[in-house]
Amino acid sequence: MKNDIQNRADIELLVRSFYDKVKTDDTIGYIFNDIARVNWEKHFPVMFDFWENVLFYTGVYNGNPLVIHQHLNRVVPLKLEHFNQWNKLFTQTVDELFEGNNAMLAKQRALSISTIMQIKILGKVEE
Ligand code: HEM
Repeated sequence: MKNDIQNRADIELLVRSFYDKVKTDDTIGYIFNDIARVNWEKHFPVMFDFWENVLFYTGVYNGNPLVIHQHLNRVVPLKLEHFNQWNKLFTQTVDELFEGNNAMLAKQRALSISTIMQIKILGKVEE
């Protein structure tokens, strides 16, 4: 039996494990490593805040992910397969580490935010 996502320490584990997969992923890794050249030590605390806010309404995140991804899309056109892979890796990471209501909520929220991004960026959501 796995634990549910319960606190910031759990979110830190989730986020770090997720980006471990992202960094070495054939489909989306290059976007983070070579194009955006993400500074991970800066990115992680932002993501901890983001997910704490999404799951527990306690984080201090007040950025605008949609605008950031719209900008990214002008540098590297984002495709359906990028979003699908992002969601696959996120779901996999949650399932490997946690189970319970918050784990389910995290997967659902990731998918709905991703869907909104796809509608705004790709202009449509495909099956
Ligand atoms: C095609 C899929 C995606 C790609 C390639 C992608 C890539 C990126 C990149 C390169 C950054 C900038 C990192 C930095 O330099 O600090 C970023 C930031 C971020 N991404 Fe994504 N992303 C994707 C999907 C998503 C989804 C579905 C979510 C939410 C569920 C998400 C949430 C965020 C957030 C919260 C930030 C931080 C924005 C800020 O700095 O305020 N991303 N993403």
